[in-house]
Amino acid sequence: MGISTNDFNYISKLVLEMSAIVLEPGKEYLVESRIQPLAQKEGFASIEELVKKMQLNPRNGFCAKVVEAMTTNETSFFRDIHPFETLKGFTFPDLIEKRKDTKELNIWCGASSSGQEPYTLAILMRENFPELQSWKINYIASDISNEMLDRCRNGIYSQLEVNRGLPATMMVKYFERHGTEWQVKEDMRKMIDFRITNLSGNWPLMPKLDLVMMRNVLIYFDVEMKKTILGKVKKHLKPDGYLFLGAAETTLNLDESFERMNYKQSGCYRIRQG
Ligand SMILES: C[S@@+](CC[C@H](N)C(=O)[O-])C[C@H]1O[C@@H](n2cnc3c(N)ncnc32)[C@H](O)[C@@H]1O
Repeated sequence: MGISTNDFNYISKLVLEMSAIVLEPGKEYLVESRIQPLAQKEGFASIEELVKKMQLNPRNGFCAKVVEAMTTNETSFFRDIHPFETLKGFTFPDLIEKRKDTKELNIWCGASSSGQEPYTLAILMRENFPELQSWKINYIASDISNEMLDRCRNGIYSQLEVNRGLPATMMVKYFERHGTEWQVKEDMRKMIDFRITNLSGNWPLMPKLDLVMMRNVLIYFDVEMKKTILGKVKKHLKPDGYLFLGAAETTLNLDESFERMNYKQSGCYRIRQG
């Protein structure tokens, strides 16, 4: 059947305005494959009917649902592995040394999806830096999607999801088995304050940050929005704090006040010194 140009234009404009996610012409197949099941689930005969309903009353909850449906939530434990080697071998040892007097770390994971990334970081800290257990760790993780945040808070993963990247020893140590699913143990879930945040809107009130994880989300935004977000990250980071982006993302040609710190096969960014 296909999605009409008018409906595609309406949805892509809405998604851009509400989330900054860019859906260029050519992405009709993607919109159709994500919105058709939503329309059906919500009792509409077609995407066209859903769009009509949204046009009549843009404040009904369907707009947020359409935006959620258009987010890509692909993630996994220890995704891309190399950044976590950088965190283990360079970033955390450096931050622990620099903050040894205050014994406080402020961490933000800005696109947490279903929680695998923030929990990977929590596991990495527990496994490698036991001294941090006596530190004050302010750890916020956020996402634009309510559905994803519910998943983060529940910390429940299927066998398939835990098999993707999580070593069996860590699964047994940090998760509880419930039938065919695995739930992150409560003490670890309590480490993280999960909040709804639209990166293109107002950010949560946060202390100045030592570490920002913002991986695999800038790719969905246009150049101007990437620049705006990197500018805001700069304001929220401590002068000697660190930023991690996804493997396909960079600050290069977007914000030259960041410099890349290479470590083995990966690296991270910090504000250029001097
Ligand atoms: C591909 S996932 C990346 C998850 C994780 N950071 C990783 O690298 O595995 C992208 C996430 O960004 C979120 N997202 C998209 N647009 C956003 C926005 N404007 N504000 C906050 N989160 C957004 C999506 O909901 C999705 O969960």
